[in-house]
Amino acid sequence: MTAFVPASALDRETVLVIGLGLMGASVAAGLKAVGFGGRVLASDRREADIQTGLSMGIIDGSGPLDELIPQATLVVIAVPVLAIESVLEAMAPLWRDDLVVTDVGSTKQAVRQSVARVFGYIPPNMILGHPIAGSERSGVTAAQAGLFERHKVIVTPEADSCRSALARVHALWQRLGADVLEMGVERHDDVLARTSHLPHLLAFSLVDTLARQDERLDIFRYAAGGFRDFTRIAGSDPVMWRDVFRANKTAVLGALDEFEQGVSRLRQAIEADDDDAMLGAFSRASHARHYFETLLNQASYQSMEQRNITYRASAGGHVQGRIRVPGDKSMSHRSIMLGALADGVTEVDGFLEGEDSLATLQAFREMGVVIEGPHDGRVVIHGVGMHGLQAPAGALYVGNSGTAMRLFAGLLAGQAFDTELTGDASLTRRPMGRVVDPLRLMGAHIEASEGDRPPLRIKGGQVLQRLDYDLPMASAQVKSCILLAGMYAEGETRVREPAPTRDHTERMLNGFGYPVERSGNEARLAGGGRMTGGPIDVPADISSAAFFLVAASITPGADLVLEHVGVNPTRTGVIAILQAMGADLRLENEREVGGEPVADIHVRYAPLKGVDIDPNQVPLAIDEFPVLFIAAANAEGKTRLRGAEELRVKESDRIQAMADGMAVLGIEHTVLEDGIDIVGGQYGGGTVDSLGDHRIAMAFSVAALCASEAITIQDCANVATSFPDFLSLSASIGMRVQAEEA
Ligand code: S3P
Repeated sequence: MTAFVPASALDRETVLVIGLGLMGASVAAGLKAVGFGGRVLASDRREADIQTGLSMGIIDGSGPLDELIPQATLVVIAVPVLAIESVLEAMAPLWRDDLVVTDVGSTKQAVRQSVARVFGYIPPNMILGHPIAGSERSGVTAAQAGLFERHKVIVTPEADSCRSALARVHALWQRLGADVLEMGVERHDDVLARTSHLPHLLAFSLVDTLARQDERLDIFRYAAGGFRDFTRIAGSDPVMWRDVFRANKTAVLGALDEFEQGVSRLRQAIEADDDDAMLGAFSRASHARHYFETLLNQASYQSMEQRNITYRASAGGHVQGRIRVPGDKSMSHRSIMLGALADGVTEVDGFLEGEDSLATLQAFREMGVVIEGPHDGRVVIHGVGMHGLQAPAGALYVGNSGTAMRLFAGLLAGQAFDTELTGDASLTRRPMGRVVDPLRLMGAHIEASEGDRPPLRIKGGQVLQRLDYDLPMASAQVKSCILLAGMYAEGETRVREPAPTRDHTERMLNGFGYPVERSGNEARLAGGGRMTGGPIDVPADISSAAFFLVAASITPGADLVLEHVGVNPTRTGVIAILQAMGADLRLENEREVGGEPVADIHVRYAPLKGVDIDPNQVPLAIDEFPVLFIAAANAEGKTRLRGAEELRVKESDRIQAMADGMAVLGIEHTVLEDGIDIVGGQYGGGTVDSLGDHRIAMAFSVAALCASEAITIQDCANVATSFPDFLSLSASIGMRVQAEEA
C-alpha cells in the first residue's frame, strides 16, 4: 500500500522543475492554477525560457542547480530522456535522503539504467514516472495548466522504493488532477511502444513520405480530414522523439513488426478483392476504436466494474407515459450466436446494446466473424457457417453473463479449436457443473475451476455424441447449451425439462431452418444440420419491462404503456402473477413478429393483494422476482413463494439479497431455502446493497416510489449489463432515481 499523504501536505513542498519545456512548464503552471501553497523553482539550460516562465508567473525563482537543490524538497526532472543522465550526474553530489525525485520521461527502462549508472543502484527516493499527456506543441510557451487533468500518470516504483516518497509523487499528480497508477518499468515500455511510440513513428513517416514528393504542395492542399487527424502528432518535438526511439528500441521494433504484418494482411486483401478480410479488419478496428472511446469516457462496463455507482432514489414519484424498453437480452445473445453460425447475412433490429450481449458480440468478432454495428439496435452479422469460426487469440471474456457462458460452452464444445471462457467476479462464482456435466456425457473435454466454476477451458476437436437428457433443474440456459452442442453431435439429441422454460433457442433455430421438434416437455434435434441467416426483430425485454409493470401497479394514479414487448408464453409469468395479485394489466395490439409474440402492455395503478405464487409460474418469471417482491411489499396481506431455489444462483443470491434490503426498509418477511413470505405494508428508506446485481438495483429503485423515505442503493454499475438507459427511461415517466459515483 502506498502511504497516504493528505492533500494539504503538498503545500509544504518546494517543487523544483528541471527543464522548462512543455511538460515541466505545465507542471509549474498547473500547480499555480490549483492554488499550490509552496514555491515552484525551475532550472533550464535556456535562460530565455526561465525569463519567460517568470514573466508568465508560473515559477517563483531560478538559479544554478547547486543553489536550487538545497532549497527543494520535490524535484521533477522534465528533460528529454537521453538528457536525464547528465541532470542526475549534476544532482548526485547534492542528493539528500529527504529529497523526493521523479521524472516525466516517456520510456522507463532507459531512465532506470541512467539512474543505476550514476548512483550504482536506484535510490529509494527516486520514483520514476510518466504522465500520459502531451501536445504536439513544445516549449515553455506551450504550457497548459490543465494538461494533466483527467489524464493517467504511470509511476514505476521499485520493490524497495520509499513508500512515503511514492505517496508524495502520487500527491503531486493528484493535485494536478491526474489519475495515478503503478506498473513495472518493462510493462510500461511495452504498453507505451504500442499505444504511443508506434503511432508517433507512423505519423512522422507518413508526413515525411508525402513531404518528399515533388508535388507536395498540391498534395497538402487537398489533405484535410483523414490526413490531418492521422498526422497531428507529427508536429511533435523531434529531439524528444529521437530519444524515445533510441531508448525504447526493442519494444518499438516488436510493435513495428506486428504492425507490418497487419499492413501486409490488408495489402493482400486489397490485391485479392477480399471483401470479407477487409470488412473483418475494418469492423474489428472500428468497434475497438468505439470501445476505446467508452473506456476513455469511463462509460464502458470494464471501467464500470471498478466504479462505485450508487443510486439515490427519492421517495415518491409518478409513473406516466409511453415507453419502449431495450431489446430482449436472451434473444439478443441468441441472434448473434445463431447468426454467426448461419450461412449468409443476418440483420438484427432491436438488439440490446447492454454489456452482456455486447460481450457475446465481441467474442464472435474475436472468432473471426464480421459483425457490423450495433448502431441504434441494428446489427448485421456475416455468418461463417457451422464450421467457419476461427480460434480466438486469447480467452473469451463474457462479463457478467451466465447465459453467454453456458450457451458458449455448448457451441464451443463442438469446435475444432481450444477455447477458454472467463467472466467477471460475479460470474466466476456461479455454478457451471449444470452444463459441464451433460457436455462431458456427450464427449466434450472441459476443465473448470474448483466447484465447477469459471473459467472453463474447452478442448477442441472432440467428436460429440448424441445425448438423451433429463434436466435436473428448469433452466433454459442448460437446455440451450445441450441443443447447441447437439448440432455438432452425431445422432439425435433429446432434452426434457421438469417445467417449461423460455424457448427462444428452439424458435430461432427453426426460424433459421434448423429443425427442432418439440413434444410435451421434450425438445429434439439431429446433429449435422445447417442454418440460413435472415432478419431478426428483437422485441423489448419483458424482464426490463417488469420493473415498470410493478412501478405502475403500485403507484396511485399511474398509467403507462410499454410498447412492443415480447410476450412469449414462456416469459409471461410476471404478467400472470401480477394479474393474480389484482394488477390492471392489458395486452394491446397483440401480433407476431419473426416467430415471437409481441404486444403493447397497458398498465394502470390498482390495489394489489398478497397471493400464493403458482409454482408453475416460477420458471416463467425467473428473472422478475426481485421486483415482484417489491409488488408483494405493496400488496395487502401475505405473498408466498416456493420452489424458487434457482434464485439463489443468479447474479446474486436473489432471495437473500432482497431479504437483506427489505429488512433495512422494514418490510416484514420470512426467508426459506426455496422461497420467501412477504407481508405487505408501509415501509421506510435506508441504504441497501444490490451486491452488484442489476435486477436487485432496479427493484429497489422501484420500491422508492412507495417508501416513506429515500432509498440509497449501493453497487449499481451492473445495471448497464441489461438496461443501460434505465435511469433516463425511469426519469422520463416520473421516477426519481439518480446515480452518484463515489
Ligand atoms: C436465460 C435463462 C434464465 C434467465 C437468464 C436468461 C436465457 O436462466 O435467468 O437471465 O437466456 O436462457 P436459467 O436458464 O439459468 O434459469
